[in-house]
Amino acid sequence: MRENVSLKPFNTFGLDAKANYFEEINREEQLTELLHQERFGAMPLLILGGGSNVLFTEDFSGLVLLNRLKGIQVLQESDSDILLEVASGEVWHDFVLHAVENSWSGIENLSLIPGTVGAAPMQNIGAYGVEVKEVIEQVRFLNLSTLQIETLNTEQCEFGYRESIFKHALKGKVFILSVKFRLKKGEFEPQISYGAIQDTLVEQGIKQPSMKEVSDAVITIRQSKLPDPAVLGNSGSFFKNPEIPEEQFASLKELFENIPSYPTRPGFVKVPAGWLIEQAGWKGKRVGETGSHAKQALVLVNYGNAEGYEVKALAFEIINDIHTKFGIRLSPEVNIF
Ligand code: EPU
Repeated sequence: MRENVSLKPFNTFGLDAKANYFEEINREEQLTELLHQERFGAMPLLILGGGSNVLFTEDFSGLVLLNRLKGIQVLQESDSDILLEVASGEVWHDFVLHAVENSWSGIENLSLIPGTVGAAPMQNIGAYGVEVKEVIEQVRFLNLSTLQIETLNTEQCEFGYRESIFKHALKGKVFILSVKFRLKKGEFEPQISYGAIQDTLVEQGIKQPSMKEVSDAVITIRQSKLPDPAVLGNSGSFFKNPEIPEEQFASLKELFENIPSYPTRPGFVKVPAGWLIEQAGWKGKRVGETGSHAKQALVLVNYGNAEGYEVKALAFEIINDIHTKFGIRLSPEVNIF
């Protein structure tokens, strides 16, 4: 057991918070053995995968468990689909590449999303018209109170836009061990209705893209807009795109005729937070060691020496400003500790 460990290498914001205790988990049994010890079982726990959706604003007084559980297993296979069980510590993008190489479709639009397989269901990762809930069949986890292994099917996971039961009723109560995915085999039906993918494929002169070409197009788009955490610390989109009632949108449209929107559940529309933040003048603005990214306003960055509380302060300044200007309250997508 390591003590007093810097979490800087383990979060993509590159923030230097410390953990009292720190253990890398490579086997499921190692986890249960550890938590059966009274001393650790009673401590506050923080589970880290890729550390790509966390903002540390202070040191963590407790035990950090770094998830390094690995393995991809084929459970069932037919001509039309394949059921896989993937260990939660696998790197998400490696799993996507593995699927694309094997011509298993369903997650190619989710290429290059940072983080681990176990984090994917937590916030129902999504990009370019696809959400991971569409291919998840089951989530298997250790209940941290009972130390029993349990499973939930897709419906029980209560997936929503960047939401799941793991961010609500089960928040902080489980360690996700593995996820079952059902991917498609056979003829490939690309999901390329999202404007940016279409534009990229048109630019490249591709009419009927292969799975690899869709994955490559997504990688190209992401690399052109989203900063590489190895170069500039960040956690992807810092805020969720807000959903607002249609009537509120109609009033805003009278004031801001170019305001974009996307359909969501009946009676509501989704407005891109990046647009609101850009309109409010924050895009590319630097405040000390932090700021809103110049190519994608929704991403807050660490220019090198930011402290977590500075990023949090900027985030709340943006939230207040957007509320004053548009009457919309943004909520962070990133988990703030
Ligand atoms: N926009 C601006 N200015 C900006 C950024 C965006 O005006 O600086 C407007 C534009 O109208 C643009 C629209 O927002 O057309 C959408 O922008 P983009 O396609 O970049 O997507 P997003 O809504 O900003 C969401 C996800 C991303 C995901 C992309 C693509 C959320 C919170 N973010 O961003 O997810 O990659 O769509 O599907 O839903 C993440 O969660 O970390 C993430 C990067």
